[in-house]
Amino acid sequence: PTARLVIDTRRPLGSVNRRLFGSFVEHLGRSVYDGLYEPGHPNADDRGFRTDVIDLVRELGVSAIRYPGGNFVSGFRWEDSVGPVDERPTRLDLAWHSTESNRIGLHEFAEWLESVDSELMLAVNLGTRGTLEALELLEYSNLAEGTSLADRRAENGRRAPFDVRMWCLGNEMDGPWQLGHRSAEDYGKLASQTAKAMRAFDPDLELVVCGSSSAHMPTFGEWERVVLSHTYDDVDYISCHAYYEEKNGDLGSFLASAVDMDHFIESVVATIDHVKAVRGSDHVVNISFDEWNVWYNERFETVDKITGAQNWPVAPRLLEDSYTVADAVVVGNLLISLLKHADRVTSASLAQLVNVIAPIMTEPGGIAWKQTTFFPFAVTSALATGSTVATTIESESYETTAYGSVPVIDAVTTVDEGAGTASIFVVNRSQTETTSLEFDIVGLGGLGTATDVSAQTLFDEDVAAVNSLTDPERVGLRENTTLTIDGGTGRIELPPVSWTA
Ligand code: AHR
Repeated sequence: PTARLVIDTRRPLGSVNRRLFGSFVEHLGRSVYDGLYEPGHPNADDRGFRTDVIDLVRELGVSAIRYPGGNFVSGFRWEDSVGPVDERPTRLDLAWHSTESNRIGLHEFAEWLESVDSELMLAVNLGTRGTLEALELLEYSNLAEGTSLADRRAENGRRAPFDVRMWCLGNEMDGPWQLGHRSAEDYGKLASQTAKAMRAFDPDLELVVCGSSSAHMPTFGEWERVVLSHTYDDVDYISCHAYYEEKNGDLGSFLASAVDMDHFIESVVATIDHVKAVRGSDHVVNISFDEWNVWYNERFETVDKITGAQNWPVAPRLLEDSYTVADAVVVGNLLISLLKHADRVTSASLAQLVNVIAPIMTEPGGIAWKQTTFFPFAVTSALATGSTVATTIESESYETTAYGSVPVIDAVTTVDEGAGTASIFVVNRSQTETTSLEFDIVGLGGLGTATDVSAQTLFDEDVAAVNSLTDPERVGLRENTTLTIDGGTGRIELPPVSWTA
């Protein structure tokens, strides 16, 4: 089949916020321990951080990193994770049925973030704790000096405040699995009180209120409306979380997961703006899509889940999904969806970063390697700068069980006037056919005559191919040499189940 993109730079849709390329580190499984931190590993620095992991995180290009959870945060006492390491308590983590040593805490993680050049985004516990503990963490983190909490931070080795700008008011409070799960009414009131109290300390904080854990939650839509009716003027963002997996061998529906993400985002934007209209507010609330990825959750629920009142392993192998080429194409497409909505999705976090549903894997004492999903994220993070511009897609469609008829091609374009560059990101969802894509770049103005062009494609004859400990470079990007530009028209061949930049 053939398909066509018409790119119109006169219609910018929104500038691309660097925060769209955030990630997420939770105290879960081997994300922290035996992941980014492994003292004794040949590549560990003097703090115990693996430098091979640091290098990969830098190459991935992640902006803000959300920490320390996730479900974990709803049972977390932040005070446990600061102060002399030997005096920190070992605790149960009820969310993941594990033991938490607190060996790594706020200070160590902030130090690690400096090595990877990322910003800290902190979540407070509104599950089993409340406004007071959130305020204390804020004062400990951000007040320069002069109170017991600020002085304690200095005694613990950090004189300058962490100055955390972005704060999540709890995690997935709509989920019955969440410790301290609440109704939208109850959570909305608590979030509003907490946000107001935090703003009494610093009105310029960026605050994220919990939206839905997925667009398929029974409370979806109404949760956002009720929570925002309590918090609208107190917060800057409402969160969205979404995970996708291939179910029952239905690859066609899975490849169209971004259709669900598009719908999710557009529904939440509509709800935000409804509340805004009802309140007659001038304030703008945007979306922080602060958990998104492919996750084979069904396997976690049926195989990996830890149980037993006396069974609390330390850093167990949990959620260690091995990602296929098809999974990476979906991840690339989810990034396209986020970029298409760059006007209202101004922050996002790939969940997660190391070992746990992650683009980066490690073997204790051994190598670190890139999963297939590493590639679309790293390339999009590097190339999607400037603004998203209108891209009209003319493409054939195919039938899916989950989403009805969906286009075979999905794409987005970004233009960076300052840098004089443009990037097109495109997926071919066909399972069998190469698509010949034509793109009209006349709308790219001066850029349309560019000759310095290149294309990289992620595809494989085997859509189930993965990178692994024993074959860590099985899948990678390939230069797509079919790209030509002639008289303002670009042409490229897109193989089946592929992602191309
Ligand atoms: O990322 C894994 C888990 O998914 C997080 O802890 C939780 O917030 C979500 O349900």
